[in-house]
Amino acid sequence: MSVDFCGLELAHPIVNASGTFDAIAARRAFGDALLEAFPFSAFVSKTVTLAPRQGNPPPRLWELGAGMVNSIGLPNKGLDGYLAHDLPGLAALPVPLIVNVMGFTREEVATLVEAFGARDDVAALELNVSCPNVKTGMLMGADPGEVAGLLDAVRPQTDKPLIVKLTPNCTSPGEVAAAAEAHGADAVSLINTLRGAPADPRDPSRPWLGGGTGGVSGPAVRVLALALLGEVAARVSLPIVGMGGVSRGAHARALLDAGATLVAVGTESFRDPLAGARVAAELAREIGIAEFAPKCLQTSPLP
Ligand SMILES: Cc1cc2nc3c(=O)[nH]c(=O)nc-3n(C[C@H](O)[C@H](O)[C@H](O)COP(=O)(O)O)c2cc1C
Repeated sequence: MSVDFCGLELAHPIVNASGTFDAIAARRAFGDALLEAFPFSAFVSKTVTLAPRQGNPPPRLWELGAGMVNSIGLPNKGLDGYLAHDLPGLAALPVPLIVNVMGFTREEVATLVEAFGARDDVAALELNVSCPNVKTGMLMGADPGEVAGLLDAVRPQTDKPLIVKLTPNCTSPGEVAAAAEAHGADAVSLINTLRGAPADPRDPSRPWLGGGTGGVSGPAVRVLALALLGEVAARVSLPIVGMGGVSRGAHARALLDAGATLVAVGTESFRDPLAGARVAAELAREIGIAEFAPKCLQTSPLP
């Protein structure tokens, strides 16, 4: 089950999707048992921005029949707050740490990449490009030229693996991935959430979410993720982290068969915080590796 991803030796191919597993809160809930049976083979942080962010006004979530729409708005402590308060706890996890960063200009992203690239406790960086470039007005990850310009700015800042997280909200994720490869990315991950706008059930002329629109995730996006992963795998020879609606080993296997090297579990972790280890175990059975038995945290029944 072990896998080499950009030079990182991982125990199995299942990681978390950024923003969907709070390892610091989980450590508080499960104590040191979390470290002995961590559900993922690498930990991907929630997005960090240069300046602190409060996130979007509530409501921030809308539940779908097959997933959810979130408009969390990337609240975080900013680079300095993250280095001081979050990184020490995450660096203590028993798996490599991948820090996910986002900026509103190429220079902001370059500053973040340089700062985290200099840290021994950071194994790799994931670039969240699902936001506008305030200088060009374009969505950073929606246009191959934008992604090329971004990589030209950030690639010289670090030798660590750079993963570009592709947005499905664009004409051709395959072309964006090809631009990322040509301009020095080490890997791509996909998919980020799809734009969605639930209406307020009390007044359908108004949006439900405080942020107006949000990102759709969960089982509803699984078929889309699989199709886009196939498209991207046909365009690049980079390693790919596949995600979108994975809740079972069979879903992970489908993404691996379509060309992924790793698979991330996202929304399912809100329903089942131990989903990472469960999906890894199910995947092992799927592909006939009977001897793989990841340690699984024991939870006590709810009172
Ligand atoms: C509540 C929530 C928060 C998220 N936060 C982030 C984030 O901070 N950065 C990021 O790149 N993606 C974020 N995502 C997107 C996920 O990492 C993932 O790309 C997406 O949800 C698809 O996977 P899933 O269907 O398994 O959840 C978030 C998703 C959810 C549901």
